Amino acid sequence: MTGVVRALATRIRKLDHIRLCIDSDVEHETSTLLDHVILVHSSAPELSLDSVDSSTRFLGKKLEAPIMIAGMTGGHEVAAKINCVIARVAEKLGLAMGVGSQRAAIENPELAWTFRVARECGPGIPIVANLGAAQLVAGWGVEEIRRAVEMVDADAVAIHLNPAQEVFQPEGDHDFAGVVDRVAQVAEEVGVPLIVKETGHGLSMEVVYVLYSRGIRFFDVSGTGGTSWIRVEYYRGRNRGYGVVAEAAKEYSSWGIPTAISIIEARWAAPTACIIASGGIRTGLDVLRAIALGADLVAVALPVIRAYASGGERAVQEYLEKLVYGVKAGLLLTASRNITELRGKPILISQTLDMVMRQRGIDPKIYMNATRAMKGWC
Ligand code: FNR
Repeated sequence: MTGVVRALATRIRKLDHIRLCIDSDVEHETSTLLDHVILVHSSAPELSLDSVDSSTRFLGKKLEAPIMIAGMTGGHEVAAKINCVIARVAEKLGLAMGVGSQRAAIENPELAWTFRVARECGPGIPIVANLGAAQLVAGWGVEEIRRAVEMVDADAVAIHLNPAQEVFQPEGDHDFAGVVDRVAQVAEEVGVPLIVKETGHGLSMEVVYVLYSRGIRFFDVSGTGGTSWIRVEYYRGRNRGYGVVAEAAKEYSSWGIPTAISIIEARWAAPTACIIASGGIRTGLDVLRAIALGADLVAVALPVIRAYASGGERAVQEYLEKLVYGVKAGLLLTASRNITELRGKPILISQTLDMVMRQRGIDPKIYMNATRAMKGWC
């Protein structure tokens, strides 16, 4: 395939993905397990809602709440509009955002503007660039990453790991051999923080540990309970007559590590890393639970694109305002003046989570004590 034909194929696939995410039942049938985390209610918080401070810092910039809109799109005109709307709302509310995979624009620089609009519409926010680890394995390196970073004047770059998606795409990248070495090599040279990010199937402690040992200090766990990219590929494959591959995808549609477990595993393996929790984060209470469990920040994808589809910028803003309000309400109800105080609050976990932790060699008591004393790492 020539560069332009390849770029066109990438573009069409990405549009397909967005349409399916908006129209189809693409979420895992299983939960994030965040509902297995209980925060202790305070009936006498001795605080006013106005005095509650949900702000935090991310990549050297202040956020009004520990929330990022996860990388989703770019590469065509529709995506450019979405990127601008997300960036404008993020700027208004003081949140961070990621752009979707910039592969199409590296292959065809004429598409760079569809990503650059994010920086134009959100001049002051932290923006995270995005490329796939599979491209690094296939030969891309520091030069392509730098181009992606410069394209959006990014504060960091996310390298996404998505073998669960690629393996159910007949035309996908099926070779991940050498991926850890490639990610670790480019991280040293790229000049901005490099975030290793899953895409809805969760990071395990084994993967986080090996990358942490190689110097990676930012992880986005993107666990199960939200968007399942295997389900997206199942619908796509079914519509296109991919037969066997689509049927196999169906069997794996809830494959992966629930977000709550992935947060615990990542924090256990990387005690001083910035841990972003994503995958099925939908409410302010989810944000609170994820942070109390050990994350620094959360990221949200599907509800934002669906809000855009249902009501444009107004709906995106309303959804994110509700999320921020939910965070503030939860801070009040746990008698936390700010995010740091929230981290110190006691939490209860269900027997299921307790059992999973023990089976994975994590002592729940040691874990809780360590995370109660934690500062932010982003
Ligand atoms: C995504 N996601 C994604 N991730 C990534 O690293 N690069 C990408 O290009 C995309 N594209 C993309 C498009 C759409 C429409 C969605 C919904 C998601 C994955 C996303 O960043 C996130 O990790 C997962 O979707 C899990 O979060 P939610 O959707 O459960 O909140």
